[in-house]
Amino acid sequence: MRSARSDPFTPGFGNLPRIFAGRSTELNDLTSMVDRLWDGVYEQPRMVTGDRGMGKTSLLLQFEQEQLEAGRWVVRAAATRDGAVVARLCRGLADVLWEHDVAGQLAETARSVLARLAGISVSSLGVSIDREHDTGAMSVGDELRDLLTATARLAREHDTVLVLLIDETQNIDLDTLGQLFYAIQEVQGITIVERDEDSGAMRRDSLPMAVVVAGLPGLVGRLKRAGSTFGERSRPHRLLALERPELLVALREFGRDGGAAFDADAADIVADACGGYPYFLHVVGSHVWRAGDGEVIDAEEALLGVRQAAPYLADFYDQRLAEIGQLQRSYLATAAAIPPEQRTSAVVAEALGRPSSQLGSTLGALIDTHGLLRSDGTGRLVFALPGLDRFLADRSP
Ligand SMILES: Nc1ncnc2c1ncn2[C@@H]1O[C@H](COP(=O)(O)OP(=O)(O)O)[C@@H](O)[C@H]1O
Ligand SMILES: [Mg+2]
Repeated sequence: MRSARSDPFTPGFGNLPRIFAGRSTELNDLTSMVDRLWDGVYEQPRMVTGDRGMGKTSLLLQFEQEQLEAGRWVVRAAATRDGAVVARLCRGLADVLWEHDVAGQLAETARSVLARLAGISVSSLGVSIDREHDTGAMSVGDELRDLLTATARLAREHDTVLVLLIDETQNIDLDTLGQLFYAIQEVQGITIVERDEDSGAMRRDSLPMAVVVAGLPGLVGRLKRAGSTFGERSRPHRLLALERPELLVALREFGRDGGAAFDADAADIVADACGGYPYFLHVVGSHVWRAGDGEVIDAEEALLGVRQAAPYLADFYDQRLAEIGQLQRSYLATAAAIPPEQRTSAVVAEALGRPSSQLGSTLGALIDTHGLLRSDGTGRLVFALPGLDRFLADRSP
């Protein structure tokens, strides 16, 4: 039955969707990274960036599910501005050790690191936290290195991989970020030399620790400005809008999940209206779903749902625009009025009647800090948020 109750769409943030659309390139790469680490081969960290609502957290959640099913030790931590990410990682590591019944095997040094960094004591009896712990004299980076090394060694002994997923990385202060990345690099630089039991040859294995960090697009520039080489040393995945074929496949599956079907026209209308932006897919999809109760969703219902979703999309655009200054806003409005093929910084500057040199920091902020524009690699500017150009163009007088 098609009803509000059976609606398969789940607008929101940070949730695992009932149907996971696209992202096969990214998931395949992440999976192969972990598989290779399991084989003992070094793999660089992965850095997933994308605008808010583009699906970074969902990708991490989906990947986490798959890796848990494959028996890997997964620790996921989201950073907040209060700097609690290290304590959260420690907590996650302690939980993983406890769940896999190996807490008792953790080296004494690593155990004391947990106590010092996060006030956590972990034993075969359980995990407990002492809020007023002593922070030791060693730096956080060195402490983390020891803890991660000990945990990754245990993972290796138990024939699995330690997978670290760090979300909202743009919130981590630069000092902590430096310490964290130092620790990761140190652990990934460790090799274990052992004789292969089958061939008798010497093997040189990396420790099985996989790292995925996710954050807003501005993260890359922020790292560079802080002098961190992490950005260059990791393999980037920039999440963009979902492709049309991926959307159409997903809509078929969403329909099946909720017990109804989008006809071809309805699917096209929904795909157009959301522009491949995952957050909008759910907002639009949900309204279209609830626009009727038949087993087949047709064009008429799709158009009705899209109309009903429009104020929510407008609200969302308005919120994003409220974050930026007046000059940035007129930059965007001007860019939106220029056809996409001709939309370069030079053309925008000319239309604004200003020399390009005066607009460098405005454009830089729109690209790096706010992630509202990006360069398509051939010098053209693209709106990162699908439909924002249309929204601005429709609104301007
Ligand atoms: N690949 C996907 N398939 C289906 N829905 C998705 C996908 N990626 C994200 N979503 C949905 O879009 C919304 C925003 O995704 P989220 O992961 O929170 O974005 P981000 O972390 O980049 O801000 C969530 O409701 C999520 O369920
Ligand atoms: Mg997120």
